[in-house]
Amino acid sequence: MTKKITLIGAGQIGGTLAHLISIKELGDIVLFDVAEDLAKGKALDIAQSTSVDGLNVNLIGTSSYKDTENSDVIIITAGVARKPGMTRDDLLATNLKIIKKVGEEVKRTSPNAFVICITNPLDIIVMALQKYSGLPTNKVVGMAGILDSSRFKYFLSQELKVPVKNIETLVLGGHGDTMVPMPNHTTVNGKSLSDLIKKEKLELIIDRTRKGGAEIIKFLQKGSAFYAPAASGVEMAESYLKDLKKTLPCAAYLNGEYGVKHLYAGVPVVIGKNGVEKVIEINLSNEEKEQFNLSIKAVKDLYQTAKNIDKNL
Ligand code: APR
Repeated sequence: MTKKITLIGAGQIGGTLAHLISIKELGDIVLFDVAEDLAKGKALDIAQSTSVDGLNVNLIGTSSYKDTENSDVIIITAGVARKPGMTRDDLLATNLKIIKKVGEEVKRTSPNAFVICITNPLDIIVMALQKYSGLPTNKVVGMAGILDSSRFKYFLSQELKVPVKNIETLVLGGHGDTMVPMPNHTTVNGKSLSDLIKKEKLELIIDRTRKGGAEIIKFLQKGSAFYAPAASGVEMAESYLKDLKKTLPCAAYLNGEYGVKHLYAGVPVVIGKNGVEKVIEINLSNEEKEQFNLSIKAVKDLYQTAKNIDKNL
């Protein structure tokens, strides 16, 4: 049966998600936004592109949750994006309020969906979304690690003049300035990265990866990155819908893994037909552990700020 994919938020990322999902024919698409005409306009435009490309996909734009009922997958980008000079954390109060409404509506209309959150500040918003929706933790997951890893991989490919597909890499931790790119878990054509790059160069690339989102905002001025975030969200949705069981770095609920309890943070997980089927625990060196723990502390601190805004979290 044709799958139903709802995109909550039809802005820059939402529209790009709809386009990518239609090209891949992953299912019928409901583009939802409080700005109804924006959702309707984008849905119509993309629907017309399907007849150019001969794709078998139905799209609608709406501001009614009724139209989203019984979705198989929901990808959430509702909220505000960063402007130049802002951190992801600056978005917390506004996006928390938006996500409360979204979470409650998802619970009411699509309790069996696999829900992917993209709204920032990611780790806290996905945690709030899980609480507000009451959906099981394996069905609510955040998109961050694939995006951060894709930036790390791209910068390495440019530096080493190697195609991106020959590089395997990983970025863990929270989706913020303390994220942890993992050079020791990175290989280029199967070879260890440390044999191929000078330490100083690697440090620069790690720093650029951490600030990858801000670099793009500085260019765009009016919004934040959307192509790579959308591509990353689609990879997660596809792994779920087709039961691909890919191992992907995502913001997942930790229940003791990596020594962390009751918190969402970026770790490698297996995504298949049951949602997050497994958290993969990789061995971390002492230095990596230290960095990971620092990142976890940043997520916990922001969670505390969120709790001060809504004590029910
Ligand atoms: N319900 C549904 N949609 C909403 C709601 C709501 N309650 N509130 C706002 N929106 C919509 C806006 O109308 C807008 O169209 O969310 C959309 C957000 O789109 P953009 O502003 O273009 O932002 P985008 O670049 O897509 O990023 C969305 O993802 O990566 C994160 O930091 C980013 O938090 C931001 C989110």
